[in-house]
Amino acid sequence: MGDTDDSGFSVDQVIGSSPRIFQNKSLVSVGTVPDEDRIVGRQEEITNVALSLEDIIYNDVPDNIQIYGKTGTGKSLVSRHVSSKITERAQENGVHATNVYVDCNANNTITRASRTLYFSVFDELDDKYGVKAQPSISPPPKRGVGWKTYTEELWDIVDDYYDGLVIILDEIDLFKDFNNLLHALSRARENDEIETYISIVLISNKTTQFRNKVNQRVKSSMGGSEFVFSAYNAEQLENILENRRDAFEEGVLGDNTIGRAAELAADEHGDARKAIELLNKAGMMARRNMDETVTENHVTEARDLVEADLLSKSISTLPDQAKLVLYTLTKRLNGRGDTASTSQVYDRYQTVAKDVESNVLGYQRVSDLLDELEFLGVTMSERKGRGDRRGIKKDHELNHRPAIVLAATLAEDPRLQTLESVSSPEDILQ
Ligand SMILES: Nc1ncnc2c1ncn2[C@@H]1O[C@H](COP(=O)(O)OP(=O)(O)OP(=O)(O)O)[C@@H](O)[C@H]1O
Ligand SMILES: [Mg+2]
Repeated sequence: MGDTDDSGFSVDQVIGSSPRIFQNKSLVSVGTVPDEDRIVGRQEEITNVALSLEDIIYNDVPDNIQIYGKTGTGKSLVSRHVSSKITERAQENGVHATNVYVDCNANNTITRASRTLYFSVFDELDDKYGVKAQPSISPPPKRGVGWKTYTEELWDIVDDYYDGLVIILDEIDLFKDFNNLLHALSRARENDEIETYISIVLISNKTTQFRNKVNQRVKSSMGGSEFVFSAYNAEQLENILENRRDAFEEGVLGDNTIGRAAELAADEHGDARKAIELLNKAGMMARRNMDETVTENHVTEARDLVEADLLSKSISTLPDQAKLVLYTLTKRLNGRGDTASTSQVYDRYQTVAKDVESNVLGYQRVSDLLDELEFLGVTMSERKGRGDRRGIKKDHELNHRPAIVLAATLAEDPRLQTLESVSSPEDILQ
């Protein structure tokens, strides 16, 4: 980009000039829900989930389930896949069933989640029967009404049209007030609000933290089974990637490209999302360099980028002040394994907050935000001694290399890019 002579340059020279690397890039895009024949392994998990929901196809009572497991272990994939199969099979049996998927990261309040539930069902009914044109159903307004209006209206339409309903609440731990919603959903039938059989599928990658927050009342009304998905090993990851080899043009992948991606993704815990992202980014890197093959070196080079990218997605849910705190902690540390106390972080945080012209939070709020970072798995902390006048003393460290955390934090908070004088967060990783 530092070229001074750009005479004669045209974007036409760029478009279409790089070697053909991908044949179907969506196969290595993590957002794509793969077809059944791309799902490798997980037979036991698929069977467990299917057996819990199965009664829906016989118009009978299904189980509620909770699915736990580390990130990238196929929890979302398996639940979406099985629930859509259940709906299909129910249809074949003459049972009217459907499933709704709620991403609690994007719908993290009870009003948002219940609105999403209502409108997912409503929109599907509109696709099937054109209900928007029917005066008998008028959806509640999208703003200005409480969550109970949405659930009451939901039960009305569900009861009228469906015998069975699967509700998937994914990343439920990111939901602020899940106890009330879970209680309302799991009690609807008992309270005679509907006759439809409902199965609630809860998914979380924060097993213990989430379990501890579920109150007793919800535990007893939810009941049901609990499944834990284990991390993949390198061989399983290799199979998952092999099954998507046709994302690339034939002959483009080097001998050990897939093997290397599987190996790196199995490094911390076997994470299929990371494996797929590594292959995707390696391909992009080859293309950018005008290389005609994607080699294991491209995979190795892509590693930092992928780690920073995955981390930035998870910190994107944090409030801006938490990003400032994370940035401060990162700058305070000299490497992985180094620690800083809450007071040390707080002292430096005040300067950083002023530098980016943000308001400065009090000590206790910053200490709470450090706890939030730990909950997210970005940091680890340990209580030290008996504390001082500011309260309990804790030492904090990062679960990733500081450069990765720094790049991820900058990507999520442009104010910090100015402090670091970089034009792109990727510059940190060079
Ligand atoms: N067994 C598998 N076969 C094929 N692809 C898989 C398999 N398991 C996971 N994947 C793919 O890996 C990616 C991550 O899987 P998924 O989204 O289901 O993980 P998750 O357990 O829900 O993770 P998180 O807790 O971070 O949400 C997806 O793109 C998914 O398609
Ligand atoms: Mg998921």
